[in-house]
Amino acid sequence: MDEETLAKYVKAGQIAAEAREYGKTLIKKDAKLTDVAEKIEKKIFELGGEPAFPVNLSMNETAAHDTAGPNDERTFGESVVKLDVGAHVDGYVGGDTAVTIDLTEKYSDLVKASEEALNAAIKTVQIGTTLGEIGRAIEETIQGFGYEPVRNLSGHGIGKYIVHQSPSIPNYDTQDTTELEEGMTIAIEPFATDGIGLIHEKGRALIYSLTAKKPVRNPTTRALLKQITEYNGLPFAKRWLSGKIPAFKISFAIREMEQLGMLHSYAPLVEKKEGIVSQKEHSLYIGDKVKILTKSRA
Ligand code: CO
Repeated sequence: MDEETLAKYVKAGQIAAEAREYGKTLIKKDAKLTDVAEKIEKKIFELGGEPAFPVNLSMNETAAHDTAGPNDERTFGESVVKLDVGAHVDGYVGGDTAVTIDLTEKYSDLVKASEEALNAAIKTVQIGTTLGEIGRAIEETIQGFGYEPVRNLSGHGIGKYIVHQSPSIPNYDTQDTTELEEGMTIAIEPFATDGIGLIHEKGRALIYSLTAKKPVRNPTTRALLKQITEYNGLPFAKRWLSGKIPAFKISFAIREMEQLGMLHSYAPLVEKKEGIVSQKEHSLYIGDKVKILTKSRA
C-alpha cells in the first residue's frame, strides 16, 4: 500500500475513534437514538470524514444493524447498547469500530468478555496469522467468561468504498488456515452473548445499500436515487433521505427500488434465543508493525 493511501486509512480510523468516544458520552437512558446518531454522524463530517455507514445503535438482543429511523422517538432506557461507527476518507474505510455501553449496570462481565476477546485477538495479529487462530483466541476468551461468541457474525476486510470484503474474520475457531497478508486492512469484531451464539434477521430494515442501478420513473424515486448514488454503494440510513420528502413517499420509493432488485436491505440482527449481546471492534492495518487504526488517542 502506498503512503498516501495508508494516510487516508489512518485518518479515517482516527475520525471513527474520536466519533466513537464522543458517542459514548451521549448514550444515556433518556437520550433519543435519533439525537445520538445525528450528533455522531455530524461529528464525523466535522472531523473531515464521511460516515462509512449509518451509526448503528443496537440494543439488548439486537447485535447490529439497528439505527434511528425517520421520526424515531425511541430512547435507550435500561439497555445494553452497541455503538458501531464507521468513517471513510475519500472512500477509504479506515474506521469501523464499536463499543458496548451497559446502561443496566448488570452486564459488566458480558461487556468485558467481548473487550478481552478483542484484546486477545489483536495480540495474535501479525503477517501470517491464520484466521482460525484469531477465531480461536476470541472463542476461548468469551467462553472463559461463561458466554458464547456469535458464530454467524464475523470481522471482515475493509477497503475503498467497501465495508465488508474478504477475508472474513471468524469469531470462533473455524480452523481456517488463510493467513493475514501485508497491506491488508481488517476489522475484528467479537460479539459475546448469554444466548446460543447465533443471530438472525428480524424486523424492518432502516439501513440499505445500492447494489444495482436501474431506470426508475417515479419522480421521488428518481430524486432519491440521485442522492443514494452519491454514497458509492456504501450503506445509508432511511432517515438520511428525509428533508422535504414526506416519509410515506420515501417508504414507497424504497419499496419500488427493492422490488427492482436495486437495494440490499440490512434488517436488525437479533440473537436467536434473545440473549443479550455485547460487541467490541477495532480496525487494523497489517504491516511489519500492526497499526490499530481506531485506537483512541486519549
Ligand atoms: Co465491522
